[in-house]
Amino acid sequence: MIKKAVIPAAGLGTRFLPATKAQPKEMLPIIDTPVIQYVVQECVDSGIEDILIISGKGKRSIEDHFDRNIELESKIQEKEDEEIYMHMKHIENMANIHFIRQKELNGLGDAIYHARFHCGSEPFAVLLGDTIIDSVIPVTQQLIDTFEQYKQTVIAVETVPKDKVSRYGIVGGDKISDKLMQLNELIEKPEASKAPSNLAIAGRYILTPEIFQALENTPRGKGNEIQLTDALKLLLKRENMIAQTIEGKRHDIGNKLDFLKTTIEFALKRKEFSSPLRKFLEDILKNGKK
Ligand code: G1P
Repeated sequence: MIKKAVIPAAGLGTRFLPATKAQPKEMLPIIDTPVIQYVVQECVDSGIEDILIISGKGKRSIEDHFDRNIELESKIQEKEDEEIYMHMKHIENMANIHFIRQKELNGLGDAIYHARFHCGSEPFAVLLGDTIIDSVIPVTQQLIDTFEQYKQTVIAVETVPKDKVSRYGIVGGDKISDKLMQLNELIEKPEASKAPSNLAIAGRYILTPEIFQALENTPRGKGNEIQLTDALKLLLKRENMIAQTIEGKRHDIGNKLDFLKTTIEFALKRKEFSSPLRKFLEDILKNGKK
């Protein structure tokens, strides 16, 4: 049983400046909901209610978001807005959320290492805090199902174009089934010519507690940071691991174009926005062609 999740959310968000100069990228809203709330919801929908968020400098608003705001609650009660009141209560009761600060930004691997006391000797899920995956079955649940069957580290992957492999951790291995691969290679952000495949690590993992020892022995890698991919590669010498192609659509919110596309896509799915937004988009596209 996977009962705990770790959400690294300490990064600076430099790809989204100036919006992220004084606010965390994880708090950027897709319509009216901060990105990290979608990620926490994915945990909850996957049966995980014990969540450790790795935060850092300038990330206090993430803590506030999941806290109770009594003043705001009483204002909403005065206005008798039942729907928004229930939504506020839902957010503060979503899960048991703990925070730890990564004082120095030494990479994703170092961020995960901060979870060693919280996770102890249990396997746990990792969900990157700036990535939303829209799917019928939550992707973390998809990985948990595979973990329960194989009892091995499971890494979510997706196919990316060859010219984009240098942006991701890339895996290689032998096919077990349409969706699963037994890993024999992991490389963080390789040049296209050195990539073992075009299967990119997609920001969701089920890790075993042995990762912590591997992280202790992982030297600095790409970007002079402790990379989780390098620690996994080290652990692969001792443990079997599986890559699982996700069923769902990944949205990398740290990327401005992806953020815009996600906002439009999610708004088109909301019944209050769907038809006026569709009409607006059709109109500007038509006028733009004139
Ligand atoms: C991180 C991981 C990388 C993974 C990517 C997915 O990189 O190190 O392996 O493919 O997330 O978004 P980052 O995007 O933080 O540079």
